[in-house]
Amino acid sequence: MCGIVGYIGMQAASEILLAGLEKLEYRGYDSAGIATVGEGEIHCVRAKGKLQNLRSKLDGIENPSQIGIGHTRWATHGKPEEYNAHPHMDVAQRIAVVQNGIVENFRELRLELQQKGHEFKSDTDTEVIPHLIAEYLARPESAAPATLASSPFLEAVRQAVNHLEGAFAIAVISADYSDELIVARQQAPLSIGFGQGEFFCASDTPALIPHTRAVLTMENGELAKLTPLGVEIYSFAGDRIKKSPRTLTWNPIVVEKQGFKHFMLKEIYEQPGVVRGCLEAYTDSTWEASHDTPPVNLGLDESLYENLDRVQILACGTSWHAGLIGKYLLEQLAGIPTMVQYASEFRYAGAPVTPHTLTIGVTQSGETADTLAALAMEKERRKPLKPEYQPRLLGITNRPESSLGHMVPNIIDTHAGIEIGVAATKTFVAQVMAFYALALDLAYRRNTVSKERIQEILGGLRQLPGQIELVLESQERYIEELAHEFGDTQDFIFLGRGINFPIALEGALKLKEISYIHAEGYPAGEMKHGPIALLDAKVPVVAIAMPGSVYDKVLSNAQEAKARDARLIGVTPMDDKEAAETFDDLLPVPVVDEMLSPLLSVIPLQLLAYHIAARRGLDVDQPRNLAKSVTVE
Ligand code: F6R
Repeated sequence: MCGIVGYIGMQAASEILLAGLEKLEYRGYDSAGIATVGEGEIHCVRAKGKLQNLRSKLDGIENPSQIGIGHTRWATHGKPEEYNAHPHMDVAQRIAVVQNGIVENFRELRLELQQKGHEFKSDTDTEVIPHLIAEYLARPESAAPATLASSPFLEAVRQAVNHLEGAFAIAVISADYSDELIVARQQAPLSIGFGQGEFFCASDTPALIPHTRAVLTMENGELAKLTPLGVEIYSFAGDRIKKSPRTLTWNPIVVEKQGFKHFMLKEIYEQPGVVRGCLEAYTDSTWEASHDTPPVNLGLDESLYENLDRVQILACGTSWHAGLIGKYLLEQLAGIPTMVQYASEFRYAGAPVTPHTLTIGVTQSGETADTLAALAMEKERRKPLKPEYQPRLLGITNRPESSLGHMVPNIIDTHAGIEIGVAATKTFVAQVMAFYALALDLAYRRNTVSKERIQEILGGLRQLPGQIELVLESQERYIEELAHEFGDTQDFIFLGRGINFPIALEGALKLKEISYIHAEGYPAGEMKHGPIALLDAKVPVVAIAMPGSVYDKVLSNAQEAKARDARLIGVTPMDDKEAAETFDDLLPVPVVDEMLSPLLSVIPLQLLAYHIAARRGLDVDQPRNLAKSVTVE
């Protein structure tokens, strides 16, 4: 969603801001803008559409300003038009603001400000912020805390943020305070990068790492003043907070395409490495059933495990699909009743509170507003209850430095690193790996499956990286060819059962989000209860038929589709005669234990979605209307 960058230092700001915004493009946006201060004025340039449009407007303009803010906007309030693009300014055009989030009380504030004579030019919630700051700057008699008495601009921003409701992160500059960049955070991500005599801010670290690895993640309720001399942090109450940046270990190379046409394809190819990384991080590579030590070590607090009775998983989108596989594993291996709920539903209708319950938030970005709010709600409603109801929160994410990492005391880092393609691929596989580790950890502790079975599953997991490589090598060219045949297809159905039902959902989601083809994922047995009415020769059906408890059932369900003239594509075991006779097109994967099959069956579906979208010439990494990090409700 919206991206924020800011710069203050010794270099010309505008190129740094544009380069920073380019690093945030992956988050999704529909307009962009920058504002700088020079010769006592604010220079603000905005453009609808891609950053290239903004670049063209700035081309040839000499701008030596060494302070500025920039923004990529993902429309929430008001259409994606230039007049709604950020930065927004006050009436006198002395203050410019960029915001990520939603100011929920903007209507009341706007009305109050209009009554005081402020005129508004956009439909956005953000525009109230510069007007509000201007109001407080015009009232120097305000009761500033002693710490802020000498900093009128910072004090005005402090007062303004105290009147904002909702989730927001802002960066503010003023023509009258040209050596101060003020930033504030409340429930939306914002980090500060420390250079030598120069400082940066950004809503996401990829915009900072080309300049510095010394990064400070702001907490909710904090604001900061950045000057060429340093950074001062304060609470919204005005108290000074002492904090130091930490050093990021990231390599800038992870945010390059490295020869792949799209980030999504690169990330699909990173999956064998991701599985290896998870195995190294979570499991004892020498473990055998004869050992007395645990096979898995996730480094979690022991209190999470005590008398554990129930698990509830909260997530959105692809992470929710990973949660569904997690439920299967936790129930079938560890025997723990597990509920999976969309975070956006749970936060307004939480399931009844049960004792000894582990709540797991799954989110690749660690910033999804609904997931964070659902976890916060769970924590709050349990706090006043008896000890057995006290919150036990666990997060699964590849971004442990995110808001989730700050909010939840126990994190399983999935070690997938940053994902740039909007369609989640490697982070999904990594989340599922985290669930294998957790389910095996619990199964061992609870003695719900034999040590021999644990050894078997671990052995199978260790084979997976090589098997994923084999699928990528043997399938990609064929799938690329196959994709040509769906140039005009408008609907797809994906079928799966058991542990592969979530893969049917995931295959459908991948296809619809990047190729804009309508796709539905169904449990194969549910077809005849309604969706079968959709089938005809124009609707391809992709069935996931992996060996195991539901293999024959899925084949029968596929036959039912075939009888309605549907073109049948099967994700099937390699060299399977029956599958070859049933399906029109085969996407074969190595034969593995059913319990492990989702990590293979998902690979051809990712490739299929990718190649159909790429073939249609679509913007695979930044599909329309989507954002990588959904930081608003
Ligand atoms: C799908 C996709 C989205 C995300 C969802 C949750 O490819 O990327 O459905 O899975 O927005 O995002 P996170 O995992 O960041 O909470």
